This record gives sequence, structure tokens and C-alpha cells, in this order.
Amino acid sequence: MAAVNSQRVPLIAGNWKMNLDHLQAIAFVQKLAWSLKDARHDFDGVQVAVFPPFTDLRSVQTLIAADKLPLQYGAQDVSQHDSGAYTGEVAGSFLKALHCDYVIIGHSERRQYHGETDEIVGAKTAAAIKNSVTPIICVGETAEDLEQHGPSAVPVAQLRTALAVAGKATDVVVAYEPVWAIGSGQAATPEQAEQVCAALRAVVAEALGDEVAAATRILYGGSVKSSNIAGFMRQPNVDGALVGGASLDVTEFTSIARFKQHVGV
Ligand code: PGA
Repeated sequence: MAAVNSQRVPLIAGNWKMNLDHLQAIAFVQKLAWSLKDARHDFDGVQVAVFPPFTDLRSVQTLIAADKLPLQYGAQDVSQHDSGAYTGEVAGSFLKALHCDYVIIGHSERRQYHGETDEIVGAKTAAAIKNSVTPIICVGETAEDLEQHGPSAVPVAQLRTALAVAGKATDVVVAYEPVWAIGSGQAATPEQAEQVCAALRAVVAEALGDEVAAATRILYGGSVKSSNIAGFMRQPNVDGALVGGASLDVTEFTSIARFKQHVGV
């Protein structure tokens, strides 16, 4: 158990991507809350967050507030702009108004399908910080990057640029998601994840200082399941997981959040 860093509360984050409408979201969040409660989950010990599509957020917010559910939630993207003529975009202040705890920024699918550069990721990070919504900055290398540059070079460069553009920050989360591991069923090994997460923590230290780096949670993402989460959470620099596919299954996601029961066995 010593491997789970006591300075940082682990975060298990479920990225729903473009799945579940607002009615399905309500049913899902209710089931998830019951499932975790049934398992006597210690929410102070391991935080659990869901990331539904924008159209679900108000429903999820209302449910969590009305039933006082100990779950956290956030959005999957945010505009780098404050307001104005940006059709289809959602401002950080709107997420703040919905009491979002977090926003995912620079997911590889945003980078790949929407041309998000490290500079845009940095500007979006700044927009989140400005509105007191904690950014979860996603970085990761493609299979090609891995072959050409090794495991850490690309994610390190992505994070360095994003943090330089974002400026001063004290509350950020970083997610290391190798692109080749996302949705492929082929997760990185815990040792690979640890190596890159340690390098990313050094980048946070360089940009934001040692104290912030020591308090920053660095998540691993890419084909995380209940059967492999324990190995990641044993690593000293891995503080949680960003879970895609497996976050859409209540039993599986509950089991991932309950990793402390599998760590150390
Ligand atoms: P996956 O997705 O768990 O389905 O691999 C992770 C992610 O894209 O955040």
C-alpha cells in the first residue's frame, strides 16, 4: 500500500466521450452512486469523477447536488475564449456556473480530429484556471512517436508547451495517455506509465515549482480495466486513471475505483 502516494488523493475519472444522453446519464450516475455506496467506497480516499457530454452536465449537476452524491464531474472540453462569436464553443465561465470540478483538455481525440495544438491546449488550460475549474491536461505519444522518439519525449514536450502558454497555475491534473493504448485493449505496462509520469512530474516542477509538482495528480489513461488498475496504482508517480470504455460499465468502473482492494495483493 505504501506505493499509493499519501500526499495526493487518487482520482478515478470516467471519460464518457460521445456516449449517453442526459436521460441515460441520470440513470447511469444513480447506478454508479449506489454501486459505490454498496461497496462502502471511501470517497475521501479515492475521488471518483464522471465526464459526460456537454448536454448532460446540467442534469448530472442537479442530480449530484439534490441527492448530495459524493461524486465529482467535469466537461470534456472548453473554449479558450471568454465569450462571443465562436459557434459551438462552450466557455469556462459556463462550466464554472455548473460547478464543474474539472475539464479534460487536449484529449488525443481533440488533437487528432479538431486540430488542437499544444498552444491551444495551453490557452484552454488558462481558460479553465481563470474560471476555477481544474484542468486535466492530456498528453501522450502515438505509436510512431514511440518508435521515433521513445516514450517520454513527445508527452514531455506537449506538457512543457501547454504549461508555458497557460502561465501560473497551482491546481492542475495531468493525464498521460499513450495514443496507441487508447481504446486498443493494449495498455502500457505499469513500468512504462511510471517512467513517463515521473518525467511529466519533472516538467510540472520545472514550470510550476516543486511544491505544485508534489501536489499534482498525474493519471494514466489507455485501456484501463479493473484487471490492470492495481499495477498502475502501485507506481509512485501514478495518482489515478482516466478511463474511457470501462467507465461506461457501472460494475467495471466501480471495481476500478475500488483499486485499493486489489493493490498490494
Ligand atoms: P480507453 O480510453 O480507456 O477506452 O482506452 C481512455 C481515454 O481515451 O481517455
